[in-house]
Amino acid sequence: MRPPFLFVEWAPMKPLVPSRRTLIVAAGASLLPLRSVRAAGLVATPAQTEGPFYPTSFPADMDNDLVQVRGQAAQAMGTVLHLEGRVLDLNGHPVEGALVEIWQCDAQGLYDHPRQPGRDRRDSAFQGYGRLLVKADGSYSFRTLRPVAYPGRTPHIHFKVATASGGLLTSQFYIAGEPGNERDGVFRGAVRDPRQRDRIEMKLAPAAGLEAGALATTMDIVVG
Ligand SMILES: [Fe+2]
Repeated sequence: MRPPFLFVEWAPMKPLVPSRRTLIVAAGASLLPLRSVRAAGLVATPAQTEGPFYPTSFPADMDNDLVQVRGQAAQAMGTVLHLEGRVLDLNGHPVEGALVEIWQCDAQGLYDHPRQPGRDRRDSAFQGYGRLLVKADGSYSFRTLRPVAYPGRTPHIHFKVATASGGLLTSQFYIAGEPGNERDGVFRGAVRDPRQRDRIEMKLAPAAGLEAGALATTMDIVVG
């Protein structure tokens, strides 16, 4: 029969004064998980203007699939973009309970907004706005459109993140390498610190294995 509490047989043999190695391990144990330590010191996503087209009323369907409006057979015009990532704090920890909203114009450059000239011509199959609560690991995903340019602006997707602790970040994503970016005043203002480019420039790639003809990108949102 196995003797109970076997560990007490050797425990008294351990020195009472902890070794240097024990101290280092103990100190490490009180720190953040390893992944977070590696990610510490992340650059925050820069805040940018909300712009004039944040919805004044929300669509009946405001889920995370903006390409398909519930109850409609048609799919929105344009190139589908799978936008996903995580909401993280500056230490790389997932921000639990964060609400992420996105909004953007349709494939013709028209917002669903009273201030939008030609609003009646907009693609009613495009939801234009969506929101979700991040999962426990901070992750979010939207099925939306590759943004297009409209007069005065390079292509962009607006987003807002509201944290459970009352934090709010309003910003915009752009397409990496889009020639119009460097002429866009909002974009230029957001990348005065060049480290912030990675936070707002979407690198688009085919959505391999996800959806034929669609694009995909991963954008972590880092809230300060
Ligand atoms: Fe906009």
